[in-house]
Amino acid sequence: MTKVLVVANRKGGTAKTTTVVNLAYALSEKGAKVLVIDLDNQGHIEQGFTAQPDLLSALSQPAWMSEFEEFKGVLAYSDRIHLALAHTDSAFDESAYTLDRFSQLFDNAGDAGHYDIILVDTPPTLGPRLLSALAGAHRIVIPAEPTPLASDGVNKLLNACMKAIRNKHFRASGIDILPVMVDGKLRIHRQTLGLWQEKFGAGRILPAIRRNVKLAEAFAVHQPVSEYAPLSAGAKDYRSLCDCLFS
Ligand SMILES: Nc1ncnc2c1ncn2[C@@H]1O[C@H](COP(=O)(O)OP(=O)(O)OP(=O)(O)O)[C@@H](O)[C@H]1O
Ligand SMILES: [Mg+2]
Repeated sequence: MTKVLVVANRKGGTAKTTTVVNLAYALSEKGAKVLVIDLDNQGHIEQGFTAQPDLLSALSQPAWMSEFEEFKGVLAYSDRIHLALAHTDSAFDESAYTLDRFSQLFDNAGDAGHYDIILVDTPPTLGPRLLSALAGAHRIVIPAEPTPLASDGVNKLLNACMKAIRNKHFRASGIDILPVMVDGKLRIHRQTLGLWQEKFGAGRILPAIRRNVKLAEAFAVHQPVSEYAPLSAGAKDYRSLCDCLFS
């Protein structure tokens, strides 16, 4: 069965989209077939991948998305990376969302496209859309910069997810924390990472992604970092993360 990994943090600007884009690319380099689903109507997944905008003319509408107004179609970025792109022109009425809204969609998409992994990018708000995405995840990754202010948000989201898993509202079997934008020279980062290991358990902390300007530059030119700067620290770190998550 296709594995569904949801990247989430209710705080904005914590490298959720950067993680989805670059993890998808690292997975494809290992031979996996990946579907990226954008559930954030900022539409940043499209921006992260569309160095060649003419690709967008080839959007398809697979049957599994026909009832979901969130998406404008699926784009084949390559044989191994497909993108379910979000509509960006409107805010959706999420009041009728049920917790199981996306579980069946993820499973149907996985079966129809024979994907090995589905990676889901989510909005920075703990609303019905994020909760429905989390409910459909097999694994949840929370990216966060290791600072005291971020710790509180990570703690609350982790606890909420663990409670929902215990109560069988979510189907995930694992929740991991991904330290991002890490600068080993900063004492506050080192201290916070130490605290996270004590509080959340070292086994829950994924290998860190260092602060690396190539990641921001790659996003600005709409490319995964491994295409833009294959030897950069950012490219190496996302490859190591991929090996750790999918060994
Ligand atoms: N490790 C890193 N080093 C340097 N810059 C980074 C790193 N990771 C992400 N960035 C930059 O930080 C900014 C925020 O990243 P990103 O858009 O991935 O966050 P996000 O959590 O998806 O934001 P939002 O909540 O708005 O969706 C971007 O400009 C991105 O290029
Ligand atoms: Mg984003």
